[in-house]
Amino acid sequence: MADADDHIIRIKGLRNRFGEQTVHDGLDLEVRRGEILGVVGGSGTGKSVLMRSIIGLQTPEAGEVEVFGEPTLGRDETETLDIRKRWGVLFQGGALFSTLTVAENVQVPLREFYPDLDLALLDEIASYKVVMTGLPADAGPKYPAELSGGMRKRAGLARALALDPELLFLDEPTAGLDPIGAAAFDQLTQGLQRTLGLTVFLITHDLDTLYAICDRVAVLADKKVIAVGTIPELLATDHPWIQEYFNGPRGRNAVAAQEQAGAGHVGPGQPRTADADAAARPTDVARLADGQRTQGSFADNAARGAPVSDATRTLGRTDAARTTGTK
Ligand SMILES: Nc1ncnc2c1ncn2[C@@H]1O[C@H](COP(=O)(O)OP(=O)(O)OP(=O)(O)O)[C@@H](O)[C@H]1O
Ligand SMILES: [Mg+2]
Repeated sequence: MADADDHIIRIKGLRNRFGEQTVHDGLDLEVRRGEILGVVGGSGTGKSVLMRSIIGLQTPEAGEVEVFGEPTLGRDETETLDIRKRWGVLFQGGALFSTLTVAENVQVPLREFYPDLDLALLDEIASYKVVMTGLPADAGPKYPAELSGGMRKRAGLARALALDPELLFLDEPTAGLDPIGAAAFDQLTQGLQRTLGLTVFLITHDLDTLYAICDRVAVLADKKVIAVGTIPELLATDHPWIQEYFNGPRGRNAVAAQEQAGAGHVGPGQPRTADADAAARPTDVARLADGQRTQGSFADNAARGAPVSDATRTLGRTDAARTTGTK
C-alpha cells in the first residue's frame, strides 16, 4: 500500500445531500502526488460538488477529506489558510470577475493572501502568469468580455496559478472550446503539470483530454467513485456506464484520434515534451483537421461555456467571489 506521502488528497466516506437528493454516499478517492487525475461521470453525478467539498465550499454531511495530509472539514478559514494557499482553482465556466481586467483577476488571490504586496510586484506577477498560460502580453489590461472563450479559460488558469500552487483543480476546462483550442489547452495543462510539478484534479467530459493527458481516471456513478485507474484498467471492468462511455462511438473516435496522432504526442506514459507554451503542435492540427477530436461528449457541454460576465453575476459570493476556495 502506498504511504501517506504519495497522496495529496484523501477522501473517505463522503456524503453530500441537498434536501431529499443524495449526491454522494460513501465516496472514497485518493489523488496521487504529481498525477493528472481525470474525473468523469454523467451530468449531475456530483463532480463539481466533489471538487467543492475538497476545497471547502461545500460542507459534506459526513466523511473525511484530507489535503496535503491535513484534514480540511470542520476547520475554520484561518486554520486552513496555509493549505488553501497551496491550491488553485479554475471553476466550471471560468467565473472571472467581469468588471476586472485579466491582470486584476490574476491579482485577486494574491491580494487576498498577501495583502501587503506592492503594486509593482502584483503587476509583475500578473504579467508573468498571463504569459505563462499562453496569452499575449497585451491581454493583461483587457476585460473578460474582450477575450475569446479560449483566452478566458487561459485567463482563469492564470488566476488559478497566481499563488504558485502545488495542486490545481480544473472543472471542465475545455468545455466550449473548439477542437484545436481544446487540444492546445490540454497541452498547456500537461506542460504546466510537468514543468511546475503540479498535481491536477481535472473534471472533464472530454474523452480526448482523458486519453491525451490523464494518468488515471476516476469514474463517478451510483453516488460513489465506482472505479479509478488507467483507461486500460477501466476498460477491463464490466460496469455498463464505463463500457458505454469508453467503448461508445465517441470513445472509439477518441482512441482513433490518439492512434493517428502517433507516438510522442499523447497518451499517459508516452514521452511528451514539457511545453508551457500552448501553441497547438503540427500533430494536433493534423489530427484535428480530420475532425477527430471528440468534442462535446454530452449534449449539455454547450451550456457550460456560459459567458463569464453571467457566471460572475449569478455566482455572487460563491465560486466567482473566491478563487482559492475560501468561504
Ligand atoms: N447548492 C446546491 N443546492 C442544491 N443542489 C445542488 C447544489 N449544488 C449541486 N446540486 C445538485 O447536485 C447534483 C450534482 O451537481 P454537480 O454540479 O456536482 O454535477 P456535475 O457532475 O458537476 O454535473 P455537470 O457535468 O453537469 O457539471 C445536481 O443534481 C445538482 O443539481
Ligand atoms: Mg459540474
